[in-house]
Amino acid sequence: MNKKRDKSNVGAAVIGLGRGRAHIEALIRAEGAELLAVCDKNKETAERFAAKYEVDAYTDLGEMLKRDDIDLVHVCTPSGLHTEMLLQIAEAGKHAITEKPLDITLERIDRAIEAFATRQLQLGCIFQIRLMPAVLEMKQAIDAGRLGKPMLANAQVKWFRTQEYYDQNGGWRGTWAWDGGGSLMNQAVHTIDLLQWMMGPVQSVVGHTQVSAHRIETEDLGVALVKFRNGALATIVGTTAAYPGFGTSLEIFGTDGGIAMKDNLITEWKIRGDDMAAEEADMRRKFGDDKAAPPADTTYVQIQDMIDAVRNNRAPLITGREGRDAVEIVLAIYESARAGKEIELPLKS
Ligand SMILES: NC(=O)c1ccc[n+]([C@@H]2O[C@H](COP(=O)([O-])OP(=O)(O)OC[C@H]3O[C@@H](n4cnc5c(N)ncnc54)[C@H](O)[C@@H]3O)[C@@H](O)[C@H]2O)c1
Repeated sequence: MNKKRDKSNVGAAVIGLGRGRAHIEALIRAEGAELLAVCDKNKETAERFAAKYEVDAYTDLGEMLKRDDIDLVHVCTPSGLHTEMLLQIAEAGKHAITEKPLDITLERIDRAIEAFATRQLQLGCIFQIRLMPAVLEMKQAIDAGRLGKPMLANAQVKWFRTQEYYDQNGGWRGTWAWDGGGSLMNQAVHTIDLLQWMMGPVQSVVGHTQVSAHRIETEDLGVALVKFRNGALATIVGTTAAYPGFGTSLEIFGTDGGIAMKDNLITEWKIRGDDMAAEEADMRRKFGDDKAAPPADTTYVQIQDMIDAVRNNRAPLITGREGRDAVEIVLAIYESARAGKEIELPLKS
């Protein structure tokens, strides 16, 4: 067994070696962390990555949690398994950062949040798009009131995924039990999170969902109308059936102007004032598709923040509690689609 070399470092482990590979790469680069172990129920996968990164391989979370040099566990397994693993991790007295969505029901999410809070352990939820430079700039302008009174937003995720994408890895994607939904819960959840982060709490939703182009249980197309508590309205489109894929977009309009992003880069920035055109040109140069800099690796940024949070005994930038809101909106859309009526939030957990 490879023991931690420097006691002041955060000993880290990753479970689930699909998306978990991005967590491994981030941990290798991060300061103040040592990757000690990886875990996957597929023994060959666990051993392959353990050999590659010279760490220990596990196929069982419980075994890995017996180690006293592991301080932080990254949960990157299918979404419907997150809470069951998070509860074991909290019980073992370790911090955790979990992939989005935190889990697929509010009842489980609340149990996970509570388990870490009562033990004074940190729980982070990956929503790396929040940390994109253009997204942060847009959020700051909205919070500063530069768009005036919030009025309208459009959040669109128009992606394409093949049938093979749904069938591979045991076929967990597009199932109610493990994915908790389809294109809204798995893919559009990032943009729905940005929508509510920028526009504020949701009052009600009306939604329609359908399966258009795949053999799956859950939706590959969801459309919703959203009313916010501040009176603003929004539309949501989330699909994995838009062949060959059209990217994501988020537009937000207030009484003093609007900002639009395509694939998390600024395409329009029009705010009332004498310098409107000059400001837009500046924003597009810094945060738009004409900027020269490569896209930021915001998964790394979020994971470095989580390590710093554990070392300094503070909450991470995006906590487990922050991971709850987008899931609640998606669940409300599903309830509306099933019941054929408008659904008010908050939902009963
Ligand atoms: N933040 C993002 O942009 C992003 C991107 C992709 C996936 N994700 C999230 O990451 C999670 C995993 O998705 P994925 O695409 O990597 O799936 P995947 O199927 O590619 O990988 C999941 C891995 O978990 C392993 N696994 C399953 N059950 C296990 C268990 N009980 N114990 C140990 N290992 C187990 C599987 O063997 C597999 O290697 C999901 O919650 C998904 O929503 C997030």
